[in-house]
Amino acid sequence: MSSTVEFKENTVIVVFGASGDLAKKKTFPALFGLFREGFLSSSTRIIGYARSKLTDEELKTRIKPNFKTPTEKSKAQVDEFLKMVTYISGPYDTPEGYQKLNSTIEEYDAASKVKESHRLFYLALPPSVFTTVAANLKQYVHPGDKGLARIIIEKPFGHDLASAQALQKELAPLWSEDELYRIDHYLGKEMVKNLVPFRFANNFLSACWNNNFIKSIQISFKEPFGTEGRGGYFDSIGIIRDVMQNHLFQVLTLVMMERPVSFDAEAVRDEKVRLLKSIKPFDKDNVLVGQYTRSEDGSKPGYLDDETVKPDSKCVTFACLTLQVDNERWQGVPVILRAGKALNEGKVEIRIQFRENSNGMFKDINRNELVIRIQPDEAMYMKMNTKVPGISNSIAVTELDLSYKSRYSDFYIPEAYESLIRDCLRGDHSNFVRDDELDISWGLFTPLLNYLEGPDAPTPQPYAYGSRGPAGLTDYLKRNGYVFQNRNIYQWPVTTPDVLEQSKI
Ligand SMILES: *[C@@H]1O[C@H](CO)[C@@H](O)[C@H](O)[C@H]1NC(C)=O
Repeated sequence: MSSTVEFKENTVIVVFGASGDLAKKKTFPALFGLFREGFLSSSTRIIGYARSKLTDEELKTRIKPNFKTPTEKSKAQVDEFLKMVTYISGPYDTPEGYQKLNSTIEEYDAASKVKESHRLFYLALPPSVFTTVAANLKQYVHPGDKGLARIIIEKPFGHDLASAQALQKELAPLWSEDELYRIDHYLGKEMVKNLVPFRFANNFLSACWNNNFIKSIQISFKEPFGTEGRGGYFDSIGIIRDVMQNHLFQVLTLVMMERPVSFDAEAVRDEKVRLLKSIKPFDKDNVLVGQYTRSEDGSKPGYLDDETVKPDSKCVTFACLTLQVDNERWQGVPVILRAGKALNEGKVEIRIQFRENSNGMFKDINRNELVIRIQPDEAMYMKMNTKVPGISNSIAVTELDLSYKSRYSDFYIPEAYESLIRDCLRGDHSNFVRDDELDISWGLFTPLLNYLEGPDAPTPQPYAYGSRGPAGLTDYLKRNGYVFQNRNIYQWPVTTPDVLEQSKI
């Protein structure tokens, strides 16, 4: 049976951890979004499963407020969708609940006279119960040769190389790589999905997408809030595990990999793996780490003010790393990864700087820079040098600007989870993480993390909540190949305050 069979009519979707936060905020709203947009048949059955004793109605009341209903029609769709939802309360570690789940699904299948049972299990669960649930599902609820099953799991996929491999070792005998869908929700974001078409459907770009033309790449993640009293979890994770090893690395591979031989999921993932294998080990002496302190006006707490974290925690809430990709295309191009919490704004973007003129005419003008903004407000803009219009002969930077809000105002851009659940229903693995990707990325990050969490760890530099990051940031970026534009002549063409805000780095 082919793994790319599309799950259409009469699919049964089981959401584990149904009473939890992730399911409430992301999974159920995504399922509703798919239904609203016509991508989920009304013959689908959705079963919530968790330990909490809830009635069907209580679950529905809990999940409903997070549904997005932009139109009158979509408001009417809420009740229609909720008719598809039921709830089973059961333990995660003993057979009863699973047997009940299996017989419930069997009843649905019998009532709808399916030829082949299609079951999608979504594990919105903490890693401590992943494998228990996965094992029980395999034993009691997998349709075997009477159908197909797919299982979606969410990060964290391990804490370091050893634990990631241990998790994999437990899952592999139960669920084949074909049935397993590891979500990194960044791969469902519109701009991230756009990277492959953007790079490979625009031939002229291929000609300059290399170290002859590109001088530096920066991928940055900025969050405007701290742990806000929930640092207990974050304290043992840190920003590097939280967003770099997974999200930013996924973005990096899509920006830098070679052209896959086809659209086939394995062809795409093969190229990502090949790229990952070319990354040189991190230079631990070239990292900038920080931890946020109280905001300058004192209104926002520092990280150590969070009572749920260790009092002397050295947890890294800000990090800048620079890596090198050791292949013909990218040799010599520094790639800066930058991520932080409690910063001046929330923004995720890719910045690619091109080589400047080294002599002759126009040798003192700014580098061209391509900015791809992943969030908020998807956009791409290319900073170009042009003559200032009119009598003047001076040169100014202006943008070729593709802002999705203005250019694609009528389009519906799905939430990352909607897009990924749809991919899974279609049997398309392209935007999910393969086991060998995890191995290689953890292999790169683990020595660095061991150093940062070991006895010789550097003390993170303080930075105020709401600032751009530690004082050494600008120097660090300059030292590692990022050139700041000449602000005197740099002008963003749109003057609305929120867009101006977006153009800052
Ligand atoms: C699920 O239930 C059906 C019907 O009772 C049964 O035939 C099947 O063996 C069960 N599946 C598993 C994996 O126990």
